[in-house]
Amino acid sequence: MAKIVDVIARQVWDSRGRATVEAEVSVKGARGRAIAPAGASTGSGEAKSIDVRQAVHGVNTEIRKTLVGKKLEQGPLDQLLIDLDGTPDKSRLGGNAIVAVSLACAHAAAAAAKQPLWQFLAGKRALAMPVPQIQIFGGGAHAQGRMDVQDFMVVCIGAGSFTESLQWTAQVYQAAGARLAKRNALYGVADEGGWWPAFKTNEEALAELTGAISDAGFEPGADVAIALDIAATQLWRGGRYHLALENRTLSADQLHTMLLGWIERYPIVSIEDPFAEHHAEAMASFTRTAGNRVQVVGDDFFVTSEKKLLEGKAKGACNAVLLKPNQVGTLTETLACWQAAQAAGYGAIVSARSGETEDVSIVHLAVGWGVPQLKVGSFARSERMAKWNEGIRIEEALGGNKLPYPARKIFNWRKA
Ligand code: PGA
Ligand code: ZN
Repeated sequence: MAKIVDVIARQVWDSRGRATVEAEVSVKGARGRAIAPAGASTGSGEAKSIDVRQAVHGVNTEIRKTLVGKKLEQGPLDQLLIDLDGTPDKSRLGGNAIVAVSLACAHAAAAAAKQPLWQFLAGKRALAMPVPQIQIFGGGAHAQGRMDVQDFMVVCIGAGSFTESLQWTAQVYQAAGARLAKRNALYGVADEGGWWPAFKTNEEALAELTGAISDAGFEPGADVAIALDIAATQLWRGGRYHLALENRTLSADQLHTMLLGWIERYPIVSIEDPFAEHHAEAMASFTRTAGNRVQVVGDDFFVTSEKKLLEGKAKGACNAVLLKPNQVGTLTETLACWQAAQAAGYGAIVSARSGETEDVSIVHLAVGWGVPQLKVGSFARSERMAKWNEGIRIEEALGGNKLPYPARKIFNWRKA
């Protein structure tokens, strides 16, 4: 097995024009490179990012010294990074430094094996492309709170392939933009490339999105369905959920009732973080009531932690997990969370962050690990499109639309 000959980091810039960490790991004849993303609606249990100059310095000194000469083997290398950091939240060396190095190790190993990362991770496993969740309207922390709900997304449940999902999404995205422009209700695009709309209520976004699906020539709920990320941790203040747009606050019970009403009236198949990260009871109660009709996803609620996932499972909270490598810090811990989700019978979605770059690693992780869904933001801006386009290339390499496509399997049982 190849030994690491060098590790370096540099400061680069993300999609919000903020500094972030890029790391490179070299072995003889091969090199891997990766960039840390950054969230805006972060969970309190996430690995902590530190000042980028400090993070870069830590990679170029301590981390380099520890990793050079070591075998290029993901599990032991990630453990070395965890031990070297020595804190429970990776706040000494920085979650941003650690995730960049961890991912760069994987890229270096794939390069040394002369394989694309997805193939290297998959080994002999039979592969399928993940089903995309793609944002059409952006709100929450990604649009200065102009809308309370953070992500209004589409899932092309009737599409036959990843590539076809993107084709359909492009049509819905353009139709949605045209509707808003016509109503003079368009501010621009939010952080993840979704339209930044001027709506009066959150429900108006659901009506407009359903309308845009129809305008694009698709049947809402049969061809194209809706997924939401409420990102409710952001709405929680002083014991109530605040809907600033609608100038009202809700108890957990009232929020529960509001969401059930939305599920009744709109073709919703997935809801992420319907309650705040500490509200396990509300999450479990919602999952009991709605979990046979919609996917209930924990993002801030699980922060890609295997431990939190197991605790959530014991309480009956959520039935799916968002997997964000930088939320937990290393690839090995991300994989452990995915494996725990599989064992628990939970669904899973590999996800980007709101602050992203040209780095496309997460698409390779989703395919290579066999994670059935992928969320990378909207259908505009190159930090998003780089990832969707990488998926097109991988689907082509895998044999195109001859592949099984899991969308119907994931969502159809929930339509009843
Ligand atoms: P974040 O948002 O990257 O700003 O945390 C993404 C999400 O909530 O899914
Ligand atoms: Zn989220």
